[in-house]
Amino acid sequence: MLLLTGATGLVGSAVLRRLTAAHVPVRCLVRDPRRLGPERVRVQIALGDLADPPSFRNALRGVSTVVHLAAAIRDQPRGSIEELNGIATWRMVQAAEAAGVRRFVFFSALSASAHDRTRFLRAKALAEQAVLASDLERVVVAPSIVYAPGDVFMTLLSRLALAPIVPVSGSGNARYEPIWAEDVARAVIALLDEPAPRERYELAGPEILDYTQITTLLLRAAGRPRRLVHVPTPIVSRALRATEAILKSKAPATWDEAELMEVSMVSANGTADALALGVDPAPMSRVLNL
Ligand SMILES: NC(=O)c1ccc[n+]([C@@H]2O[C@H](COP(=O)([O-])OP(=O)(O)OC[C@H]3O[C@@H](n4cnc5c(N)ncnc54)[C@H](OP(=O)(O)O)[C@@H]3O)[C@@H](O)[C@H]2O)c1
Repeated sequence: MLLLTGATGLVGSAVLRRLTAAHVPVRCLVRDPRRLGPERVRVQIALGDLADPPSFRNALRGVSTVVHLAAAIRDQPRGSIEELNGIATWRMVQAAEAAGVRRFVFFSALSASAHDRTRFLRAKALAEQAVLASDLERVVVAPSIVYAPGDVFMTLLSRLALAPIVPVSGSGNARYEPIWAEDVARAVIALLDEPAPRERYELAGPEILDYTQITTLLLRAAGRPRRLVHVPTPIVSRALRATEAILKSKAPATWDEAELMEVSMVSANGTADALALGVDPAPMSRVLNL
């Protein structure tokens, strides 16, 4: 049995589709099974929450492989970014060890560091440490920015593009190697079949693009090319914090999310690790049909 967390997300839904198509027995740790869509009838469901580590024990019964994708880039009512990404991963690893899990695949992020300016990348770095300190056969996967046509970010941009100009937080100079969610999912499947996987894989797309270039491409793909206006980060920070104070968890964007767009996520080896798993990542323009 394979336990998949984050199965309702961008990467998780692509991974899950492939697992069920290959008839792999899967259990999904989810907060709300309805969000699994049609896949929910093809998997076992373990109701759980990253903010509720005791729920992990039940989910891990009889599991030999864990693919831990669930993560949060904003605080939730039941847990902070640090709790949901750092502490929850540490508790998940402990529970996996106790349950006799063999392989633990953990999704971190490129540029995760205990010294990063963002809370999310600091929490991911601590989570990586917890995974690597375990006795499990562990694999850390660190992707650059992951995208798919119609994903949450593209939807948000399309909404912003109802106006004639689209705001970009800060300089927009942070650099990424965007990788398509389907390519990431193919890499995960390959990894599961790998007899002796490495400890760490960095998943990057074939081009280095800055945030401004990515935003421009996504707006063209959405059929709404717009002029971009760079807004200084102190103004973005104040505006988003005020929005969060009023709208709470319904805020369309948070400062923690915007700040992530200031941090470059570029791999030292480009597409090498993806290629080692038999995946030749597609360029963004091809995926977006541009
Ligand atoms: N997307 C990127 O650009 C990117 C870049 C680098 C690294 N990563 C990492 O790659 C992994 C997959 O990313 P993604 O883009 O697929 O994420 P995503 O689309 O944001 O999905 C997040 C997943 O985590 C689940 N989740 C959130 N809070 C939870 C909680 N409290 N309890 C249980 N589940 C919870 C969500 O479930 P609900 O349906 O219940 O919300 C969803 O399935 C993550 O670890 C992420 O940090 C992503």
